[in-house]
Amino acid sequence: MASEKILIIGSSGQIGTELVMSLRGIYGNQNVFASDLNTPKGEVLESGPFVALNVMDRAALIETVKKYKITQVYHLVAMLSATAEKFPEKGWDLNMKSFFYVMEMLREGILKKVYWPSSIAAFGPTTPRVDTPQHTIMDPSTVYGISKLSGELWCQYYHDKYNVDVRSIRYPGLISWKSEPGGGTTDYAVDIFYKALQDGKYTSFLSENTNLPMMYMPDAIRGTIELCEAPADQVKLRTGYNFAAFSFDPQTLAESIKKHIPNFEIDYAPDFRQKIAEGWPQSIDDSQARQDWGWKPEFTTDKMVEDMLKNLRVKLNVK
Ligand code: SER
Repeated sequence: MASEKILIIGSSGQIGTELVMSLRGIYGNQNVFASDLNTPKGEVLESGPFVALNVMDRAALIETVKKYKITQVYHLVAMLSATAEKFPEKGWDLNMKSFFYVMEMLREGILKKVYWPSSIAAFGPTTPRVDTPQHTIMDPSTVYGISKLSGELWCQYYHDKYNVDVRSIRYPGLISWKSEPGGGTTDYAVDIFYKALQDGKYTSFLSENTNLPMMYMPDAIRGTIELCEAPADQVKLRTGYNFAAFSFDPQTLAESIKKHIPNFEIDYAPDFRQKIAEGWPQSIDDSQARQDWGWKPEFTTDKMVEDMLKNLRVKLNVK
């Protein structure tokens, strides 16, 4: 394990911030390189190496990989669903170009392993929405979703054609307190906690009964590492694994928050993100991940809410 050198691109994002610290715990601080356009604050910067990198600069990316003898890349850079609808070409470029730069290094044998995140956004409006199966209709209708489905298919292609080790998960909406998400359709489920603690009220951009699959970040990080650490022969799928914990709608989340903040109020002003959400699954069948590499979530909605509020009260200094 000690000979592995890991590069996380997009390390200042919602997933990266937490994944860097977990991987440093496993591989040693000096063997896990964080990289991003934005310099991180706090523990990521203080505990190990950081490389300022624009992932669209192919030469700089290759140079970084060679200089630090990187063996694995976690490619977390992406423009998320809501933002990419506003900047389609830029979103496609960012999400796909850097993906190919990394995949080509894998094909050439410069890298040994690549992790690439997919999303529930890879599904679409005619996908069965309840207990969405692993293999089903996939007709994404957002730029972000199209990029995720395309990437999944390329992952499988590279694996089948060049026999390389690439792994992927279809994340549901991810909820976390350490770092804020940006530009996603599921992000109301993070914003709501900040507003509940700071203002006592929240206006949701999704309607009250818009049910979506969600997961608490500690589960998402553990599952990601479990997939990446699983023996290669257990990773039977080289597109993205369905990956689930719980589902809720804004009203149900608000009820759970009210158990801790009784005066909390929510109202609803759906915007363009409503349509995006309506094209995504409401719940996910992740039995293949459970079967192949033993996936099992720990957090329920109520347990997540309790933990979010506990940590955010400290972070925001709210009583
Ligand atoms: N959370 C993401 C988004 O809403 C989906 O992967 O864009």
